[in-house]
Amino acid sequence: MSEALSRRSALRLLGSAGAVGTVLAAGSCAPTLPPGAGSRTGPPAAPAAAGPGSAARIDSLLERLTLDEKTALLHGAPDPAPLGQAGYVPGVPRLGIPALRLADGPAGVRVTARSTALPAPVMLASAFDPALAREYGRVLGREGRALGQDVLLAPLVNLIRTPYAGRAFETFAEDPRLTADLARELVRGIQDEGLIAAVKHFALNNQEQGRDTVDVIAAERTLHETELRGFEAAVAAGAGTVMGASNKVDGVYACESKPLLDALLRKQWGFDGWVVSGWDAAHSTVAAIGAGLDMEMPGGTHFGRPLRDAVRGGSVPQDAVDLAVHRVLTTMDRFGLLAGRPSARPARDAAAGARVARKVATAGAVLLRNEHGTLPLSGAAARSIAVIGPTGQVPFVGGGGSAHVVPDGAAAPLTAIRRRAGKGATVRYALGEDLYGRALPAGLLSPPADLDDRFVDAGRGWSHAGEFRLAADDEWTLLVHYTGRQRPGVRLDGQELFPVREGVAEHFAGGLLGSAPDGMTVRRRTLTLKAGLHRLAVNAQGGARGQRFRIRYTTGASRAADLAEAVRTAKSARSVVLFAYEDATEGRDRTSLALPGGQDRLIEAVAAANPRTTVVLNTPSATAMPWLSRTGAVLQMYYPGQEGAAATADVLFGDVDPGGRLTQTFPADEQRTPVGGDPLRYPGVGGRQEYAEGVHVGHRWYDAQQVTPLFPFGHGLSYTSWQYEGLAVRDGAAGGQNGGLRVEFTVRNTGRRKGTEVAQVYVGPSHELRLDQPVRALAGYRRITLAPGEAQRVTVDVDARALSSWDPERRAWVLGSGRREVFAGRSSRELPLRSKVMVGSR
Ligand code: BGC
Repeated sequence: MSEALSRRSALRLLGSAGAVGTVLAAGSCAPTLPPGAGSRTGPPAAPAAAGPGSAARIDSLLERLTLDEKTALLHGAPDPAPLGQAGYVPGVPRLGIPALRLADGPAGVRVTARSTALPAPVMLASAFDPALAREYGRVLGREGRALGQDVLLAPLVNLIRTPYAGRAFETFAEDPRLTADLARELVRGIQDEGLIAAVKHFALNNQEQGRDTVDVIAAERTLHETELRGFEAAVAAGAGTVMGASNKVDGVYACESKPLLDALLRKQWGFDGWVVSGWDAAHSTVAAIGAGLDMEMPGGTHFGRPLRDAVRGGSVPQDAVDLAVHRVLTTMDRFGLLAGRPSARPARDAAAGARVARKVATAGAVLLRNEHGTLPLSGAAARSIAVIGPTGQVPFVGGGGSAHVVPDGAAAPLTAIRRRAGKGATVRYALGEDLYGRALPAGLLSPPADLDDRFVDAGRGWSHAGEFRLAADDEWTLLVHYTGRQRPGVRLDGQELFPVREGVAEHFAGGLLGSAPDGMTVRRRTLTLKAGLHRLAVNAQGGARGQRFRIRYTTGASRAADLAEAVRTAKSARSVVLFAYEDATEGRDRTSLALPGGQDRLIEAVAAANPRTTVVLNTPSATAMPWLSRTGAVLQMYYPGQEGAAATADVLFGDVDPGGRLTQTFPADEQRTPVGGDPLRYPGVGGRQEYAEGVHVGHRWYDAQQVTPLFPFGHGLSYTSWQYEGLAVRDGAAGGQNGGLRVEFTVRNTGRRKGTEVAQVYVGPSHELRLDQPVRALAGYRRITLAPGEAQRVTVDVDARALSSWDPERRAWVLGSGRREVFAGRSSRELPLRSKVMVGSR
C-alpha cells in the first residue's frame, strides 16, 4: 500500500519553524568551501575564510549601502558588457562590490563564446562514478571562471520522474541515491575552481508541461526520500546558491514557499547561501522576500522598485532586505569575490575539457543489447560498414534550451568511424531520413521562383506567391531555413506554417536540429496535402543586416527514395551503424516515447536488410523500440557532447568497454510506468498534480508493481562477462559506518577482454518499520575495471541513511532495523547475490 497523500501534505508538516532533529545524522558531508577566486588547479577546496574578518566586512558594507544599492543587488539587470550569459547583477563599484554574471549549464558554460560541450548530465550519471562527476564539475568551474562568469546555473538535480520530461537529459537519474552522490560531487567540482554553483530547480520541477503553473502535491515522505535528496546533498556540499523552481508546491509558488525556503532549506538543512528565482519564476514582492527568496531573475519586476517602495511603505521590513543582501555578499566573499581587486581568472583549458568530455562519453555509453557478437566491430565487420542516419553526418552534441552550449567544434560520427576503420575499410553513408529537405523543383510553382538560397537585402522586403498542383494526396514536410531573428512568413493555402508561438522562447522551439549544418535556423512542418491545387506564399524582410533563407521540402516519394537507398547501402555492407535521434529541449515535454519522424520504419527496414545492425541512440531518455528484436545491437549514447563522435567510435570498435548503466528504467509499455495511465500523476489535471507513486519512484515502482521493463535500472552490457560470488555483509561500524553495513563480494571478469563493471547493492525493507518502503532501494555501487580472468573483492559501505526512512510522525530519518535483505549484482533485475542481515541490533 502506498503512502496516502494526506491533505496535511508535505510542506505543512515541514512548515513549523525550527530545525528538526534527526534520529540519524542527516548526511556525512561537511561543507566543502571553495578556495579564493583564481584558484585553478591543485587540491580542492581549502575552506575559504568566512571568518570574523569577513563578518565585519559584510556588516560594514551593509551599513554603507543605500536602500537603492541594496535592492539593486537583489535582482537582475541588463549587462552593459554582455557575454551571452543568462543573468547579470550590477555591482556597487564605490564599495568594491563587483558585478555578478550567471551563466547557464549544466552540460557546459552557455555564453556566446565557445566552451567545452560536455556530454549531457544523464550520460555522466550513467557512469555511476562520483569521482568522474567531480572532474566534470571542475571543467565547468574553470571554464565558467575563464569565460567571465561568477555563478553557474547547475547542477540540475530534479529526478527523472517521467521519461516524457523535456529536460531528462539535463539531470541524472530516477534514483535519489545516485542523484545525491552526483549532485554532491558536481557541486564540489564546480566550486573547487572558484565558481559558485546554483543547484536547481528547488523543487519538484520534474516536467516541462505546465511547469510555470502546475501545483505539485507530494507527501512529506515522498519529498524527503525522492526529489529532495539531490538538493540536500548539494547543500551539504556547500552549494553557494539554490535556484527556486517555477511551479507551485502545495498551492504556493516554489519561489515564495516558506516551508521550502525557510523551514526546510535554511532551518533544517542549514543553507547559508542565497536563493535565486528561476527566470520569471518570482511572482510577488512581500510574500517572496518574506519566504526567503533573495534574488529575482532576470529583471526587477518584484525586487526592483516594488521592493524599495515596500520597504519605504513598511510592508517589508528593512531587515528582510538586509538579510538577503547579507546572504549574497557573504557567499560572494566566501568565493573571494569581495577581495577589493578584480579577481584573477584562469585561461580556458580546452584540451583538458575535451579529454574529460571524451572520457565521460565512453564511461557513460550504455550498451543495451548485443546479439551474436555484433559489437565490437572487428575483423570483416570492421572493414565493411554502412553508416546510416542524418545524425551520423550532423553530430548530435547536446540538447536544446538553456542547456545548449556553443562547442569548440564537433566531428561527425561518420568521420570518426571512417578514421577508426582505417584505409583498407569501406565505409558508405546513406542519409535514411532527410532532416533538412530538398530544394523545391524549379518548375513547381507557377509563376516560378527560386526559393532555395535567396538573399534579401537589408532594409528591403521580398515576397512571392505561386500555385502548384498535386496529382495525389501526399504527406509533405515543408521547411524554412533562415538567418537572423525574424522568420520569413510562409503561408500554405492561406495558413501560416511557422507562427511565432506566444510565450515560447525561440530557443525552446527548435532543439538541436533547429539549425542546419551551415548554422541557419530551421523550422519544419509536416502536413497531409490533398490532391489538387495549392498556393504557397513567402514573405521575407531583410531587416538591418539582410536575410538569407530557403524553402525546402520532403514528400512521400523523397522519403521512400531515402529509405530505399539506406536499405541498399545496408545490404552492401557487412555491418551497419544506424544513428537515431530524439531532439529534446527545455520548454516542452515529449508526447510519446517513439522516435520522431520515420525512424522506426527506417530501423525496421535496415535491420531486415542487414541483421548486423547496431542502432546508436542519441536520445534524451527512455525510448520505445518496436524493432529491438530485429537489431544486432543497441548503444545508448544520449547527447554525447563535442567529443561524442570519437567516443562513439571508441565504443563501437571496442577500444573501450561501454562503461555506462541505465540511470532510469526503460518501460516496455508507455501506459505502465510510475506515472502512466493516470493524468493526475502526469501531466496533472486542472493545474494540479499528485506524486501518488509515493516513495516508489523509478525502478522502485517497477519492483513494487512487478512490472517487467524493456530495460531495467542499472542495466548495461559489457564486452566481457562477469561473475559475482562470495557475498558477506557485516555491521558497518568496522568501516566507520555507524548504523550502516559493510557489504563485500567478489566480482570476476570471466571473459577474454578487459572490461568495466558497475556492481550494485540494493537493500530490502525493514519489517520493523511501519512505513511503506521500496521493495529494493539502491544502497551503493562500485565501478571497477578488471583484466581478463581478474577477480576483485569489492567493498560497498552502505551508510545509515540508505537503511533509513523518513518518519513523518517523528519528522526525522529513522533506521529500519531488524532483519533485512541485501542484494548485489549487475542491475536492479539481475541480482545473483543475496543475504539477510540484522540491522541496528548492536
Ligand atoms: C530555467 C533554468 C535556467 C534559467 C536561466 C530558467 O527558466 O528553468 O534552468 O537556468 O532559466 O536560463
